[in-house]
Amino acid sequence: MVLDQNKIQHHQFDAVIVGGGGAGLRASLQLAQAGVKVAVLSKVFPTRSHTVAAQGGIAAALGNVAEDKWLWHMYDTIKGSDFLGDQDAIEFMCKNAAKAIIELEHFGMPFDRLESGKIFQRPFGGMTQNFGETPISRTCAVADRTGHAMLHTLYQRNIQANTQFFVEWFALDLIRDADGDVLGVIALEIETGEIHIMQAKTTLLATGGAGRIFQASTNAFINTGDGLGMAARAGLPLQDMEFWQFHPTGVLHAGVLITEGVRGEGGYLVNSEGERFMERYAPHAKDLASRDVIARASATEIKEGRGVGKNKDAVHLKLDHLGEELINKRLPGIREIAKTFANVDPIHDPIPVVPTAHYMMGGIPTNLDGQVVVNNERPVKGLYAVGECACVSVHGANRLGSNSLLDLVVFGKAAGDKMALEIAQNKAHKPLPINVAEATLVRIARLENASGESVTEVGAAMRKTMQRHCGVFRFPDLLAKGVGEIDAVAKRVQHIVIKDKSQVFNTARVEALELDNLMEVAMATMHAANARTESRGAHAREDFGGRDDINWLKHSLFYKQNNTLAYKPVRLKPLTVESFEPKKRVY
Ligand code: FUM
Repeated sequence: MVLDQNKIQHHQFDAVIVGGGGAGLRASLQLAQAGVKVAVLSKVFPTRSHTVAAQGGIAAALGNVAEDKWLWHMYDTIKGSDFLGDQDAIEFMCKNAAKAIIELEHFGMPFDRLESGKIFQRPFGGMTQNFGETPISRTCAVADRTGHAMLHTLYQRNIQANTQFFVEWFALDLIRDADGDVLGVIALEIETGEIHIMQAKTTLLATGGAGRIFQASTNAFINTGDGLGMAARAGLPLQDMEFWQFHPTGVLHAGVLITEGVRGEGGYLVNSEGERFMERYAPHAKDLASRDVIARASATEIKEGRGVGKNKDAVHLKLDHLGEELINKRLPGIREIAKTFANVDPIHDPIPVVPTAHYMMGGIPTNLDGQVVVNNERPVKGLYAVGECACVSVHGANRLGSNSLLDLVVFGKAAGDKMALEIAQNKAHKPLPINVAEATLVRIARLENASGESVTEVGAAMRKTMQRHCGVFRFPDLLAKGVGEIDAVAKRVQHIVIKDKSQVFNTARVEALELDNLMEVAMATMHAANARTESRGAHAREDFGGRDDINWLKHSLFYKQNNTLAYKPVRLKPLTVESFEPKKRVY
């Protein structure tokens, strides 16, 4: 491990992208094709990024199964967001969706097909025809492995376009100068332990989610909020962090995702009495209501004693009636997952599932070009963010299933275009501040102290606190206590050390540094959740049952410094169409 500043290696690029998932690779492709010198840094081999685990599909109003319009998709997304989504961003995404799908198809993405030869589309929660009238098939899919197909397609295109990959490199901190401009990142080459300065005219954070702040999560172990940690340490705010999506169908005790596509194909949830309980909670949309509604319904069934299994702590997802042929054709991956993680074959038996932390609606605030914005929407020069780590905000208080893959490609492309423009306007790199890596080196050096706390124990304390105090339902006493507890865990993180110095490949060091990032996310989440005294989308408070548009139709901004919160208005004005006024949200 090199901790000597004089030995740090130095590289220059036009663009540095942190993260090799769908968002990063869509942006890098746009840049590489424009002739830009672009580097992608990824903690894992890019095709192992978490996009690979996206199952059910990507939304676009293609109208291949029934008449559809981007305006209906826009309405559904705004309603799904519980009116917290910015309507200009949502219009931009929904309007560009069809083009993004055709682009992916032309890149070689092997979408499933209908009999007609057109791209296959399936129903997903909250997606409707004619402003909520009837469910519609809007989600384009590659069986139940859509993210896998997308990621491999984008990776291959990037190889063809000469994107330069730095594989198993872990970005540690942003480089920000006295003007506040971002000039690249400091990174750790995981295998050698060497520190590198990646100087860039533009830097894009595309580091995905941070679901590992919770004990039970559909997220991979790599989802540790690295971009958010870097942004927070650089003095930037994190937006709408109180809004976390709990996916209704994570496998009990395993967390592994069972796609909403199961319900899109006709599967449904039942309780211990064999009742299809969603008929009571969402009489119209039933099992295709939006995720926050279904997660609360399942949690309520379990809480009221109608859970299934030995401990009555799950509900059943029933799909045997769909038949073996359809399951093998459209849902082969979930059949494998159910057999492996729940020991059931869903062609015969239901799968035990529970609401499981899945997606962070909040993130680093950006504009429609992916530029990170601060006070009054002013862009931070040189810094961009896209995908789950960003908050543009198209998902508001609750994301609709299959809108996240769409978000990655639409805004990944937009950011790539804007970065190429910014690079063209800046012929030379700005000089780096002196001792540029000092704070990072101090942060790493503390891990080598002779005594301190174990990373595993402090990480477990963080996850336990988040799971208990900030789950599907939020209770006032638990939230208030949760703030105190998470603040205390954050203090312990400052004293973590690597216990087993013999570790190879720096994995222990990476885990410790990931915990720094997770803590920033956990702190922002707990503080913002405690402060928002209403229920909106995925933020369901027991003491403030309803949505409060008078006081709370606004985005939160959490700042690491002194754990402060500020607020900014929701952009209710779309780009070209009439606003959708907030109204009661029923399914
Ligand atoms: O259920 C799913 O397939 C997940 C999709 C999503 O989160 O968009």
